[in-house]
Amino acid sequence: MAPKEWTVHNPDGKQRVIVTKELPGNRWLDILTDARCRVEVCSSDDVLTVDEITERIGDSCHGAIGQLTEDWNAGLFATLAAAGGTAYSNYAVGYNNVDVPGATAAGIGVGNTPGVLTETTAEMAVSLTFSAGRRVAEADRFMRGGRYLGWLPSLFMGMRFCGGTVGIIGAGRIGAAYARMMVEGHKMNLVYFDLYRNETLEQYVSDYSDFLVAHGEDSVTCRRAETLDDLLSVADVVSLHTVLDDTTRHLIDAERLATMKPDAILVNSSRGPVIDEAALVEHCAANPQFTAGLDVFEDEPAMKPGLAELDNVVIVPHIASATKWTREGMATLAAANVAAILREYPLWERDDVLPFLLGDVPRAAPSIVNAAELHLNQ
Ligand code: DGY
Repeated sequence: MAPKEWTVHNPDGKQRVIVTKELPGNRWLDILTDARCRVEVCSSDDVLTVDEITERIGDSCHGAIGQLTEDWNAGLFATLAAAGGTAYSNYAVGYNNVDVPGATAAGIGVGNTPGVLTETTAEMAVSLTFSAGRRVAEADRFMRGGRYLGWLPSLFMGMRFCGGTVGIIGAGRIGAAYARMMVEGHKMNLVYFDLYRNETLEQYVSDYSDFLVAHGEDSVTCRRAETLDDLLSVADVVSLHTVLDDTTRHLIDAERLATMKPDAILVNSSRGPVIDEAALVEHCAANPQFTAGLDVFEDEPAMKPGLAELDNVVIVPHIASATKWTREGMATLAAANVAAILREYPLWERDDVLPFLLGDVPRAAPSIVNAAELHLNQ
């Protein structure tokens, strides 16, 4: 494989930080150069292999910002630690590509970027919901194919959302934001499945319901499902917002798909392997009324055979967080994580990370997932 091009910023910086992809905006780079870092950025769009990253770390490297497409395994963290490194941040909120125990064992803090993807990702989940349920992509292809010969009473009938039931699996930040958009925007009833009760979300829906009733409209409801199958059997729309780990891999398999309503919509903006994609292909082929909207895929960037041929599936290339504000915010948080560890700043104690995006950067690390294990929160 041909060697990749790297751009060096602040060549005289005291601490060396590698960044495996070009990142949007400038604030992230200012944060690292203000921390007296020499910053080396790979300008290739190819996914870097472990060997390529190992080679770039070399003998002396203090920190790294990596991508969700890369395999940050224990060996890589051992290499980084041997080169004098203590800091890593994923350029993502999800970190299923990172061996966190391996990083902890090597004494390396692992950052991620929560709090700037919430609405942006939820908005894409909403877009996929409507594109699938109202058959937007399929109808677009029909128009472009010159097949529209005039208005017809039954052309491209889809789902009516108002008054239906939306189900979310995972009621964390993004799941809850999506739920509110669907409940508030479309007056849907909510059912959620999560290990933990989300009382804030329940109260929000209850208050919104009171507001609707006060305006002479029907109430809306919110309940936490006892089981996943309970949710799947009642929801018209099911949107996935879980992390990917051993407990959620293939959470939605052939059996669970069969539990869903035949004309339900399944949306995934979390991680591809949460759905058994081959089973989904079979299910969608056998049930043309069932629709799916997918931002993520099991073997990304590949798709399982048959998926791309299905008219009842809308597919986009893992772009749920792709707005300028969010992607620049992610870069800022990733850089602030690395710079804070290198400067031995404490952990940011608040959920709200927006102070990192404007004005003076707080002297803290916005989000370090193994902070407790490494005693960085003291
Ligand atoms: C994440 O951050 O985990 C998303 O999947 C990419 O935006």
